[in-house]
This record gives sequence, C-alpha cells and structure tokens, in this order.
Amino acid sequence: MLGDQAAARTAIESRARAILESAGYERIETPTFEATELFARGVGESTDIVRKEMFTLTDAAGRSLTLRPEGTAPVCRAYVEHGMHKRRQPVKLWYLSSFFRHERAQAGRFRQFWQVGAEALGSEDPAVDAESIALLATLLSELHVRDVRLRLASLGSIESRLVYRVRLQAHLRANEESLSGDVRERIELNPLRAFDSDHPGTQAVMASAPRLLDHLSEDDCEHFAQVRALLDVASVPYEVDPTLVRGLDYYTRTVFEFTSDALGAQSGVGGGGRYDGLIEQLGGPRTPGMGWAAGIERIMLAGDSRPPAPAPLELFLALQEPQPALRSIAFTLLGEARAAGLSAQMDLGERSLKGQLGHAAALGARFVAVIGGEHATLKDTQDGGQQTLAPDAVVHAVLRAHTSL
Ligand code: HAM
Repeated sequence: MLGDQAAARTAIESRARAILESAGYERIETPTFEATELFARGVGESTDIVRKEMFTLTDAAGRSLTLRPEGTAPVCRAYVEHGMHKRRQPVKLWYLSSFFRHERAQAGRFRQFWQVGAEALGSEDPAVDAESIALLATLLSELHVRDVRLRLASLGSIESRLVYRVRLQAHLRANEESLSGDVRERIELNPLRAFDSDHPGTQAVMASAPRLLDHLSEDDCEHFAQVRALLDVASVPYEVDPTLVRGLDYYTRTVFEFTSDALGAQSGVGGGGRYDGLIEQLGGPRTPGMGWAAGIERIMLAGDSRPPAPAPLELFLALQEPQPALRSIAFTLLGEARAAGLSAQMDLGERSLKGQLGHAAALGARFVAVIGGEHATLKDTQDGGQQTLAPDAVVHAVLRAHTSL
C-alpha cells in the first residue's frame, strides 16, 4: 500500500471510526495468529476457507497456528477469554485489520487483504441486526461506493435449519447425477453451499430446490420480519434473496451481503449476519452475536476513494552552505517548528542550495528559510515577500504570518 492508496485507506479508517464509535462500538485488535482449531471449529470444517484457504504452520512447540482468515471467530474467542459476558450487553466491537486467505489472486481478491468489521455480542434483539446493517450501509454510502445493492435473507435458527437440511439433502440426492462433483461431495457436510454454485447442472437442480425461507420457524419469521421493518424505518433499501448463502458456517437467522456492480466478478464489498451458536461452539456460554466485515481494497476499487489532499508543508529549512554548524541550527529550528504545530521539513539529501530550493518547491512549501550563520532569509512563496532575520526568529515569524493569514 503506497502513497495515494495509503492516504485513501486512512480516510476510510477515519470514516469507519467516526461512524462506528459514535454508535458505541469499541476498537479491538486480535492477534495475527490464532490456534488453527479456532477457525476449524468456528468457521467450519466444510467451508472453502478451512478446506483450502488457510495459511497454517507448526511452531517450534509443535502447535498448529493459522494466520487469521477472518475476524469473527477471534473476536468471539476474545469475548469469552476476557469475560465480556459480564459487561453490559450487547458488547459492540470493531476492527480494521489484515486477513489472509490462500486464494487465487485476481482483481479485488488478494492473499493478504484488509477488512473493517463490526461485531455486536450478547443480544438477539432484531434492532441489533438492523442497526449493524444500517451502519455498513452508511459507511459504504459515505465512502461513495458505487452501484451498491443489499441482499438479505434469514437462515433460521440451528433447529429449524436441521429440518430443512434433511429436505434439501433429499432433493440433492434425487438429482445427484446433474450436480458438480464438489456439490455432490458436500451433500452431507454442507448442502446449502449448492445455492452458490456456478455449475449449470447444479444451478438447474437448485432452481427447483426447497427454499430455506419457506421453512423458518414462527420465531425466526417474526425475527426476520422485525429486522426488515426496522431497515424500512431506517430507509435502507434491500432485496430479499432466498438463495443467499455465505461462505462461513456459523450463520443463523439474518444474513446479508452488499455487492457493487462496479466490481465485476468479485462483487462482494461486505457481508455478515447473525451467529447465535458460535460462542457456545467455541466453548463459551450460549451468547448470540451479529456482525459484518467489508473489504478495504474492494471499497477502494468501487468507491470514489480520491485521497484527501495532503496537508500543506508550512516551512522548509534550507542550508546556505553544507556545513555541520548550519545543519545543527536548522535541526533545532525543525524541532521548534514542529513543537509549535507547524508542518516542517529540512534538507536530508545533502543537496546544493539550488537543489534544496527546487526540493522545497516540489514539496509545495509555503515558507522557505535559508539558514546562514548569522542570518536567515525567510521567503513567503505565495506573495514573494522576503525578510532577513536572526535564525532563532524564523519559527516565530512563520507563526505570526500564519495567524494573520
Ligand atoms: P467474508 O464475506 O468472508 O466475511 O468477507 C467479508 C469481506 O471481505 C468480503 O465482502 C470482501 O469484501 C472481503 N474479502 C474477503 N476475501 C477477500 C480477499 N481474498 N481479497 C480481498 N477482499 C476480500 C467474513 O469474513 C466474516 N467474518 C464477516 C462477518 C463478521 N460475519 C459476521 N461478522
């Protein structure tokens, strides 16, 4: 991440911080490595992430460690380990971190990428779902991500999904010969992933498959209806997509994905959902959870991520001669100027005076001071005004000019 991209990312980070922290989310940073077991159990053995995308290594003590492929399981681990269930619920946490997946790299898909994410732990309230989704909608809109669409569905609770799974598996088995090898292999482990297949035979079979949304329990239907009603109240547009499945196993009830038509094949900008069984699965108390993550690189690709204009350089200190005594004076003034809140730089390249002045111009310096032994010359590059003064009066003179601007 270089230059303009780094500046654009800083802008995304400060928007995310402003939006999430004013909604009560606190920053969390989990370790880059976790025990492999956390992801195997949390994300799910049948997912692509666990089956083929994790960077896993064995440390000197023989422990299996994995570079985090996602942030939800680590946040849940931290919630349990730090006894956060004793705090006022829901506990709301946000992160902006790098993640690692061994995928085939292409536009918008990287092996190391960044996500901004938000997790709310400890409440089943449908308002948590709606607030969480609305916050991501706000973030994407404020970052001018183009052509955004929100797809929404409910996967139901673990119990209602079990009943549905049996029906779906029966449908898949009855049409086994038309399915892709990959889907056929996963009929037992993860039949829902068949909805995500781009294999034409599988797609034809799925067109007539029973829909999970038609098999939700009354409680799940009511929960989903309330989430939708609150999104309507918040004027967040969405389309209900009964075929929406996500690439991680921990979801229950609400799931959603924001896509951008500006992105091409990798159209997912951000997504998430509820994961009411995950913390318990990781050995903690039964605790509901809801959250999302959005890809920073994809936001930058699909957004109007013009970097903010760099802060102007207020003072450049040039040396009349390449002498250590002058360098020392300039160095002292540099510290003074910065302590006074000015942005200041000096020559660090042993350039000639002409070279230094050219460098100051390239940096867009407003004031340039040429430091001689007894005197300094201070030039205002905007109005061309010039004055000769004692070197130790330079910072004061720039500050005075500054406050009168
Ligand atoms: P995910 O859908 O796997 O969800 O990833 C979220 C976002 O990360 C994607 O929408 C995409 O923008 C970005 N992303 C994923 N993989 C890559 C990649 N290889 N290169 C670039 N960007 C990528 C999760 O990770 C869940 N933890 C989200 C969540 C939080 N669910 C509940 N809470």
